[in-house]
Amino acid sequence: MNKIYVTQPSLPDLEEYTELLKQIWESKIIANNGNFHKQFEKELCEFLRVPNISLFSNGTLALITALQALRITGEVITTPYSFVATTHALHWNGIKPIFCDINQHDCNINPDKIETLITPKTTAIMPVHVYGTPCDNEKIQKIADIYGLKIIYDAAHAFGVEKNNESILNYGDLSILSFHATKTFNTVEGGAIITKDEKLKTRIDYLKNFGFVDETVKTK
Ligand SMILES: Cc1ncc(COP(=O)(O)O)c(C=O)c1O
Repeated sequence: MNKIYVTQPSLPDLEEYTELLKQIWESKIIANNGNFHKQFEKELCEFLRVPNISLFSNGTLALITALQALRITGEVITTPYSFVATTHALHWNGIKPIFCDINQHDCNINPDKIETLITPKTTAIMPVHVYGTPCDNEKIQKIADIYGLKIIYDAAHAFGVEKNNESILNYGDLSILSFHATKTFNTVEGGAIITKDEKLKTRIDYLKNFGFVDETVKTK
């Protein structure tokens, strides 16, 4: 009987992979910023046509760190139609998720319903590009600009997606990717933060490498 899989990960040639593993064994660098780590960040930037990438061990950690790097607090307007990690990242940072309704046609956050949910406690909008379909970034950006809100895109499903000949990972203040085995591009487990802002990239890498916990992560 032929089995039909919901998803199957793409895997590299095992011998080729083992050859590369030998180089890691020889270098004895298996933690922060080894040569492969740096090469992977560089080649991903080129392939995705984005200026900066910080690698993480999964997309969930990338989301958690993204919120801390932007010092997001209070309430964040997000979508209920996502994998639970989107809401978990807010909850684990002591932030209240405010769920906005979605579009019927693409299951993405409905930008026309965001404004009524904004309160004095709102600090950011966290949309998801569901199944890799780009959100209406122009409408979302306009609202964020008017109310002074940050935008964190959960782009876990959106590896390599472009709109108007530009990577959608360049939208908002930052985007996160997941490289989980179920995703278009996988590293077995893995994730990343993409931002155009060099200073923010420095803060993200600081948080990643030194992991300090500050006021933003105290639960209310
Ligand atoms: C929309 C969305 N956000 C975040 C994540 C979390 O990614 P990870 O499994 O790499 O932690 C996923 C994973 O399925 C996801 O689908």
